[in-house]
Amino acid sequence: MGVHILHFIYLISSITFILGLKMLSNPKTAQKGNLIAAAGMVLGIFATIFLYEKDGEHLGNFVWIFGGMAIGTIIGTMMAKKVKMTAMPQMVSFFNGMGGACAAIISIVEYNRLAINNTSFDGTSVGVEAIGKLMSLFNGGATTPTPAMDSISMHLEVLAILLGLIIGTVSFTGSIIAYLKLEGKIGDKSLPGQQIINIGLLLGMLVLIGWLISLGYADMGYISILIGVAVLYGVLFVLPIGGADMPVVISLLNSFTGMAAVFGGFLYNNQAMLTGGIFVGSAGTILTILMCKAMNRSLTNVIIGSFGGNKAGSEAREVGGSIKEISMNDAAVLSFYSQKVIIVPGYGLAVAQAQHTCHEFEKTLEANGVSVKYAIHPVAGRMPGHMNVLLAEADVQYDKLLEMEQANEELATTDLVLVIGANDVVNPAAKNDPASPIYGMPILEVEQAKNIIILKRGMAKGYAGIENELFYADNTRMLFGDAKTTLQNLLTEVKSL
Ligand code: TAP
Repeated sequence: MGVHILHFIYLISSITFILGLKMLSNPKTAQKGNLIAAAGMVLGIFATIFLYEKDGEHLGNFVWIFGGMAIGTIIGTMMAKKVKMTAMPQMVSFFNGMGGACAAIISIVEYNRLAINNTSFDGTSVGVEAIGKLMSLFNGGATTPTPAMDSISMHLEVLAILLGLIIGTVSFTGSIIAYLKLEGKIGDKSLPGQQIINIGLLLGMLVLIGWLISLGYADMGYISILIGVAVLYGVLFVLPIGGADMPVVISLLNSFTGMAAVFGGFLYNNQAMLTGGIFVGSAGTILTILMCKAMNRSLTNVIIGSFGGNKAGSEAREVGGSIKEISMNDAAVLSFYSQKVIIVPGYGLAVAQAQHTCHEFEKTLEANGVSVKYAIHPVAGRMPGHMNVLLAEADVQYDKLLEMEQANEELATTDLVLVIGANDVVNPAAKNDPASPIYGMPILEVEQAKNIIILKRGMAKGYAGIENELFYADNTRMLFGDAKTTLQNLLTEVKSL
């Protein structure tokens, strides 16, 4: 009876994930969607703790389980409360790494169980039992599995454990390296022959999995070699990824964690874990593909870990010329008398927390008959959808946001582009300089507009660490200062016109 209730609760949890995911697609419903999915997850966790049973036995060790949950809840809540919006990507990366580690630990525990119980594979995990039952249906409904079916289920169980182990481990180590890079604690580093090493490690892991399955018994000593190779691959795979390409890697690692959770769900016949993992895995994969498109990169290159950073033997082109500043008053006059203004928000807008002032500036211009829209680059900021979230926070209407392709069609007929704290996403080197690390990445082609004003504090480079020739263009003027203060001053000037 308890098992039936448990499966019913898993179904409810899975439905809340679907609902939550659907609601996340709109800023108005996103917060509620997040809470609904989280409630479904809490329900699934408690149902598993109290109702899960195998061979008539229930879970024990409540002190360990609730002790661990309490510590995790306290640390997680404190981190989430303390984190600044601009440090959100690091935190997402860190939490993603923890998910990968959990999946890897589940695999280690399960493999250890095989090693202790039997030293030969017995296919006793519940997920495998379920597969065994399913296979018997295709075997004329035989209730007793044939030896061939037994052997398949045994090997399936080990395969699920080992795949969960390597994917979870790679996701854990890769996410921690991504976290350290986003925190600025380590830079891009690559070894000579990096591609060959990465391909070698990938092949090595596959060979080891094949060999461990063929052994026919579980041995913790051998599995540590696999863990070691997976740790090394996770580190070496993310370490060389250069500046602007991090978004692709972060979403790929996200999908890895989802996939690793799927194997855990399979091993424990836990449908909530299975569906949750499938959603994370597929959403992460779709996001990775979209990010690859946005960055004009191929997924094969990401997996082998060869892109980004400076290409060996090539130097990004020197950028020269002189920059031209604009006064606050001139910038206000230019904004006020333009017919069409496009704002390009970037990471600096988030750092300055200038989204509310920006929205007020936009409303003031609109009230004076100026058409104002926002051009959103898919990797502007430091996390997918960063600019959308930031502007939604300030209640900017969603229909004012133009996607990159739409914006690029409109830029040539735009009187003024205000680039607020953006740099890499408007850097023409992506089109003109084959030696540049961002070469090939589609950008917002703001140089087509009649006038461009750049709001930033100084001449610092963006995330990719490269110069931007746009700042030296004839139709560009610089308005230096913190984006929030500058926008506040600009707003005051515009109101006084
Ligand atoms: P960036 O190229 O990083 O440039 C941000 C600019 O904002 C900097 O040049 C900085 O110049 C300026 N800035 C910083 N604080 C400011 C403040 N308080 N007021 C005004 N300006 C300020 O940003 P972007 O154009 O948004 O491009 C994003 C980059 O991050 C891309 O390279 C992207 O690949 C990478 N990335 C993106 C993601 C995702 S998923 N979005 C994840 C990881 C990495 P000053 O210091 O001179 O002011």
